[in-house]
Amino acid sequence: MVEDQRCREKRQRQTVYGMDPQNLLEITNLTKRYRIGDADVLALDAVNLVISRGEMLAITGPSGSGKSTLMNILGCLDTADSGSYRLAGEDVSKLAGDQLAAIRNRRIGFVFQNFNLLPRLSALENVELPLLYASRHDAKAQARAALTTVGLADRTHHEPNQLSGGQRQRVAIARALVTDPAIILADEPTGNLDSHVGHDILDLFHRLNQAGSTIIIVTHDHEVARHCRREVQLRDGRIVAEVQHAPHHQTSTTKETTAAA
Ligand SMILES: Nc1ncnc2c1ncn2[C@@H]1O[C@H](COP(=O)(O)OP(=O)(O)OP(=O)(O)O)[C@@H](O)[C@H]1O
Ligand SMILES: [Mg+2]
Repeated sequence: MVEDQRCREKRQRQTVYGMDPQNLLEITNLTKRYRIGDADVLALDAVNLVISRGEMLAITGPSGSGKSTLMNILGCLDTADSGSYRLAGEDVSKLAGDQLAAIRNRRIGFVFQNFNLLPRLSALENVELPLLYASRHDAKAQARAALTTVGLADRTHHEPNQLSGGQRQRVAIARALVTDPAIILADEPTGNLDSHVGHDILDLFHRLNQAGSTIIIVTHDHEVARHCRREVQLRDGRIVAEVQHAPHHQTSTTKETTAAA
């Protein structure tokens, strides 16, 4: 009886969203072209990608392959020229600036290579910021909880320049987490860190992922990519291969996609 009801509800959700409810993110034939003067660059060439809830995924590829372009579109910072993008069941590909900003604030947490913290604010105030934009009255308590999650409960009043690089990135991750986003998007999150500090940050991402966060990491670094269960490789704006990485660096398997042919 209860099972019947669950199945019915699941079917209804599928009908409403028109997609499997486990698919957090679905992009289809996504294309993005940049034109400067006479030069035309096809930065994304009919990319298809489905990411499920709870995945930890790496997007890799050589410089200029389209990683940041894809990341910006996934993060609702930019839109594609054609193709569709559904995020948590909602078609966001046709939304205008304000609506896109609202989705971004509600559903996405960003982590950048250079941390992007505000220098005059304490760790706590930096983490609180996204909640103030969302007019949340419990902002301070939430920010404190997020800093505790990343292991910085004892650094709440430090300003960024009083923190190490790894600690700054933890503050940035706490800021990404505090709104409880559907996805955390990280662009080269360990790029400015020593390798052992980078490992700590990856361990933190693992813990967050095990606690249910969906995490997408853009990286040049194969070692970082190997920490993710799934790696999507881009080249010239196309997905050319997918690699499934076993936990703890067991043998990985690569599958060439049809786009590579
Ligand atoms: N704003 C822009 N205007 C014009 N061309 C752009 C713009 N942004 C990116 N491109 C071009 O689109 C292609 C993809 O760029 P993108 O920044 O997505 O690459 P990437 O994989 O992130 O590279 P990197 O590893 O160097 O960061 C490149 O050829 C780049 O020159
Ligand atoms: Mg880039």
